[in-house]
Amino acid sequence: MLRRKVIAVGITGGIAAYKVAELVSRLTKKGYEVHVIMTASAQKFITPLTFRTLSGNPVITDMFDPSPLWNVQHVSLAEKADAFVVVPATANIIGKIANGLADDMLSTTVMAAQCPVVLAPAMNVHMWENPVVQSNIKKLEELGYRLVDPGVGRLACGTEGKGRLADIDCIEQALISLLEKPKDFFGKKVLVTAGPTREAIDPVRYLTNHSTGKMGYEIARAAKERGAEVFLVSGPTNLADPEGVIVERVVSAREMFRAVSDKYEQVDIVIKAAAVADYRPKQTSAEKIKKADGEMSLTLERNPDILWELGRKKDHQLLVGFAAETGNLIEFAQNKMERKNLDMIVANNVSEEGAGFGGVTNKVTILNRYGELKELPQMTKYDTAHAILDQIRLLADTNKS
Ligand code: CTP
Repeated sequence: MLRRKVIAVGITGGIAAYKVAELVSRLTKKGYEVHVIMTASAQKFITPLTFRTLSGNPVITDMFDPSPLWNVQHVSLAEKADAFVVVPATANIIGKIANGLADDMLSTTVMAAQCPVVLAPAMNVHMWENPVVQSNIKKLEELGYRLVDPGVGRLACGTEGKGRLADIDCIEQALISLLEKPKDFFGKKVLVTAGPTREAIDPVRYLTNHSTGKMGYEIARAAKERGAEVFLVSGPTNLADPEGVIVERVVSAREMFRAVSDKYEQVDIVIKAAAVADYRPKQTSAEKIKKADGEMSLTLERNPDILWELGRKKDHQLLVGFAAETGNLIEFAQNKMERKNLDMIVANNVSEEGAGFGGVTNKVTILNRYGELKELPQMTKYDTAHAILDQIRLLADTNKS
């Protein structure tokens, strides 16, 4: 018999807590096994009895209460859950999760969670706009937590602005799309590259670029979720390894070239999201270079164009490149696709707001070798990653037919 998927729902103390009753009711009706954890403040807004009745399971409220179901509740639910949602997520729980604090049942369970965690914040607009809250949110997104952004509207405190809990429909959708990913890359071996490369000038200095690796990591994560065996060759980043992905860390373009070449024969799909440095210093000094009066010049030499080399040797692989441009997006991308013998290219204008380096969103246009063009709206990099995989799937199916 198929195991029912388990959703852990964490409720914190916000007026929107009453809306979670609808969410729990819908998820239970859809056949998910739902377990609710409530903080002490959440219980001031709505009673555990409501959720026990709607979910059909005891509600976890106390860290030290002996459970009739599990021995160490926060560990067993954290291991058992296929998805976790914290709704409404107050500034307090966001701060705790972002900073590794675990002092009650909900925060300890989130900390032990092995599954994707969705956060649906709700708070006063000024709290939401507070730079500390925003920096916690950014940190959590970079760590792979999924945020369902609050909406704009009238808030319980009487002010207008952003901070209202997102529609229950959106939160439900975010959870379901996490849990019900098609396994359409099952049996495929996918190689992804991500991040910048660093080209040493001397032991303390290097040349690099603004890539954070986020887009490539999200592609690796998404391909894994869809059943692929995924290899990620990553330049230096601050990102955690995506769950279940085989990661090889490299520093320079030449190291990346070696790592990618080693894997190339055995993989079906290559997605080159890395921002590889085109040039490296001709000489790398073994000692720190001392300053002197006057100007200094650095002679650079070309790095291998990894993707061009892969295109040249391509036989069975499907090859996907990226084009980071600041103008003439489509023309330059088209040109790169042809020059490097690619099957698809993902083009983004890195000078555009909400696209490109660093941020949690991207806005890309996908071109394929049949001359088809797909412009995607601004989305999180995680959603963009899935949309890119959708296009790869379509292209692979076209190739077969
Ligand atoms: N790329 C690569 N090796 C390089 C440079 C780029 O494999 N030495 C790959 C990137 O991973 C990306 C694609 O080529 O998938 C395009 O990278 P981009 O920097 O946009 O283009 P370049 O080919 O370097 O051209 P230019 O810098 O002139 O725009």
